[in-house]
Amino acid sequence: MRLKNKVAIVTGGAGGMGQATALRFLAEGAKVVIADFNAATGEETLKLAAAAGHGDAARFVKVDVARESDIVAMIDCAVDSFGQLDVIFNNAGVGGAIGPIWELEEAEWDYTFAVLVKGVFFGIKHATRVFRRQGEGGSIISTASIAGLSGGAGPLAYSSAKAAVVNLTRAAAVQLAPDRIRVNAICPGFILTGLTHQKHMSLEEAGRHLDGAQPWPQHGRGEDIAGAAVFLASEDSGFVTGQEIVVDGGLTALGPDYWQRTDMPREATLTKAYLTKGTTGEPRTERKL
Ligand SMILES: NC(=O)c1ccc[n+]([C@@H]2O[C@H](COP(=O)([O-])OP(=O)(O)OC[C@H]3O[C@@H](n4cnc5c(N)ncnc54)[C@H](O)[C@@H]3O)[C@@H](O)[C@H]2O)c1
Repeated sequence: MRLKNKVAIVTGGAGGMGQATALRFLAEGAKVVIADFNAATGEETLKLAAAAGHGDAARFVKVDVARESDIVAMIDCAVDSFGQLDVIFNNAGVGGAIGPIWELEEAEWDYTFAVLVKGVFFGIKHATRVFRRQGEGGSIISTASIAGLSGGAGPLAYSSAKAAVVNLTRAAAVQLAPDRIRVNAICPGFILTGLTHQKHMSLEEAGRHLDGAQPWPQHGRGEDIAGAAVFLASEDSGFVTGQEIVVDGGLTALGPDYWQRTDMPREATLTKAYLTKGTTGEPRTERKL
């Protein structure tokens, strides 16, 4: 029970990794406000929480994270229902504007940034007000993405917005450290959720499709993100702030994937071992494996 006596909010808590995190937080002893735009999946999530024996510890509130008044009401719901707030997971998200930059509409760009960046800003702002009043610190976690760390891991507007979340996390961590408020981000790689599940495939097919996306042999699951979120929410990460924790099965570690891009596939690096001495004129020595 790593989150006993803690009160947490999870935005986007009715879907994918948010739902997995809300259920895991409950299992770890927290009281949880599940905040989501989708009231139908919100109700389903409450039923899952009740079936796991946590009905009294869970609330659902319908929010649009891009509306400041909704975020204020969400924070009030946590404090009114459970008496305090210790953790906020700003996780709600959408794919947003997709397409070549010369075709993107201003309204599509604004929607993307409103949900993905302004929503996180509002969450940090209003959780911080409660944390400072309580005077006992707090933990803020936001979902960024590996798309925010490079140019090739997601749509352009989405990648830009997630990069903003990464640096908002760092800047807020610096500002809020004196109040013992920790601010961290999680950068998921490819995780099988409603967001990445291509509708023309079954869930199993979509999972198999994603299995090949990273060095780790299986695709990521919402539960993998929930594990990182529990760490960041708990005292185990008491000296961790201003960080983005990458949860991607080794995808960003792979970097430019040199072997795969040359005529020597990555697997070939596992079939022989040799010492090369470059252009010294010395022969290379090769060992049979
Ligand atoms: N799935 C991935 O591979 C992946 C990778 C990197 C980052 N992410 C990020 O992870 C987060 C969670 O995504 P997911 O994969 O679980 O997707 P998901 O679609 O399964 O869940 C997202 C949830 O956010 C809610 N939501 C969307 N807009 C909202 C709004 N304006 N206000 C309140 N709730 C809103 C949705 O209703 C949904 O329940 C997102 O921020 C996403 O950008 C996902």
